[in-house]
Amino acid sequence: MLTLYKPFWKKLEALGFPENDVSSLQNLTSAKLKNPVQGDYPRWFEALSSLPPITANNVGFSSNAITCQGDEFDGTLIKQCYQGLMPWRKGPFDVFDCFIDSEWQSWMKWNRIQDKLPELENKLILDVGCGNGYYLFRMKASRPLLLMGVDPGLLQVMQFWSIEKYAQSQAAILPLAMENLPKNLAYFDVVFSMGVLYHRKSPVHHIMELATTIKQGGHLVLETLIVDGNEMTCLLPTGRYAQMRNVWFLPSVLMLTIMLERNGFKNVQCVDVSETTMQEQRSTKWMQFHSLDKFLSEDKTKTIEGYALPKRATLVAEKK
Ligand SMILES: C[S@@+](CC[C@H](N)C(=O)[O-])C[C@H]1O[C@@H](n2cnc3c(N)ncnc32)[C@H](O)[C@@H]1O
Repeated sequence: MLTLYKPFWKKLEALGFPENDVSSLQNLTSAKLKNPVQGDYPRWFEALSSLPPITANNVGFSSNAITCQGDEFDGTLIKQCYQGLMPWRKGPFDVFDCFIDSEWQSWMKWNRIQDKLPELENKLILDVGCGNGYYLFRMKASRPLLLMGVDPGLLQVMQFWSIEKYAQSQAAILPLAMENLPKNLAYFDVVFSMGVLYHRKSPVHHIMELATTIKQGGHLVLETLIVDGNEMTCLLPTGRYAQMRNVWFLPSVLMLTIMLERNGFKNVQCVDVSETTMQEQRSTKWMQFHSLDKFLSEDKTKTIEGYALPKRATLVAEKK
């Protein structure tokens, strides 16, 4: 896996990232991948290594499914390899006629926000908690200078490389958590954090960490679960929220705005608020565990724990 990153380290150097930061990122990545202790790593590794060395002659980053097409391929083998990387939570992807129908129709979020984002062309972009990189691929259509993702989930990182093998976007996902990045990587023009803040015990610290990665005048795109209410409203679930164990802090949009304004941001704008629907998040052949319909009350008016239905907001803020 480590060899996959070589062109990316060169790219960081060519873009003028300081040598000590590049070598810190390299060392952290090597340490994580030399000791891959998560889940079914051997199955994932086998699947990734078995993908055939063919070239896509048509790659699409602009449609709902990230698409790689070619002329000659062994469809059965390709399907087997991608099945070896299940469950697929984010997507979809359509690779040599293998349609990976993920749990989330991730394009729905992108369609809601893409016209409201800061300029991405020729920019340095970081996507924190990027999952398998679906949105990095979508961003590629805007011709950025650099696309870097970070995500501690090895399955997500390996899913990314399995698509990147054919998509050749020149993005990379480092297998790291935000809090493990070197301090003060303030090189990025646009930083995304989507679906991460509520997984962090300390949301203010997450915002402070994000701020340290953004250039002055650059932008943060922050998407998270929220609750309705005023600047004094938030929800800290007593246990699970919509069956998720690791959900900590759901602020109102107004409270989130104050958190951003007090931690290095100005011109905070809420560009989207949407309830998550069972069309957007559902079980599929590629993610066969329970999904949203099983996480809600019978009449679908509350979560199964009795909390307000999942609602997400996207905020765009400028770094002071
Ligand atoms: C709900 S998914 C969101 C994925 C994608 N950003 C999206 O919007 O669809 C949350 C992702 O955040 C990652 N994550 C959790 N804690 C993190 C942390 N401390 N730093 C970076 N990523 C984290 C998880 O591994 C997971 O892939």
